[in-house]
Amino acid sequence: MSARPTPATEVDPAVVREVHRRFVTGVTVVTTMDGGTPRGLAVNAFCSVSLEPPLVLVCVQTSSSTYPALLRSEHLGINILAADQVDVAGVFATKAADKFAELSWSPGPHGSPLLDGAAARVEVEIGERLRARTHTVFLGRIVEADHRDVDPLVYRAGQFFSPSDMTAL
Ligand SMILES: Cc1cc2nc3c(=O)[nH]c(=O)nc-3n(C[C@H](O)[C@H](O)[C@H](O)COP(=O)(O)O)c2cc1C
Repeated sequence: MSARPTPATEVDPAVVREVHRRFVTGVTVVTTMDGGTPRGLAVNAFCSVSLEPPLVLVCVQTSSSTYPALLRSEHLGINILAADQVDVAGVFATKAADKFAELSWSPGPHGSPLLDGAAARVEVEIGERLRARTHTVFLGRIVEADHRDVDPLVYRAGQFFSPSDMTAL
């Protein structure tokens, strides 16, 4: 017997895609150290879970080349990119061998690579790793944090935006 209930009706994947295209996010680079090698990937599936305690989650595809190192890690870094870091988002959305080669970065107190110029940076102590078919949700507690007074990069429907192009309502 299957443990997973079959939905009464399948929602058209094209409609689901359009739903997600209407949701606005920032862009983060999720990082870890793999031995002495920094690794990371662009992630917009980042979310605050609670302020007290300061829990956050990120969702990473298990096919990512960064994934095995993340799975072994006790901590991970989350770098919330600044509006002038579109090129950095582009690098971390690839599978380039050394995405950190052209960047200025340093390890945080728990070893996670933190990118210079990011709008905000946290190190997270990983609590739970929840497998969701093709992805794993990493849930953890913020143990280090800093931020700069710069605009964050905005992402919607496959495009990047600067908050300076947005109208406050
Ligand atoms: C704006 C943006 C957001 C992304 N968000 C995610 C995400 O939330 N989770 C994920 O696993 N991949 C996400 N990706 C895709 C990965 O960054 C991409 O597959 C990357 O090449 C993975 O690199 P790796 O295999 O070297 O780890 C995103 C890409 C972009 C451009």
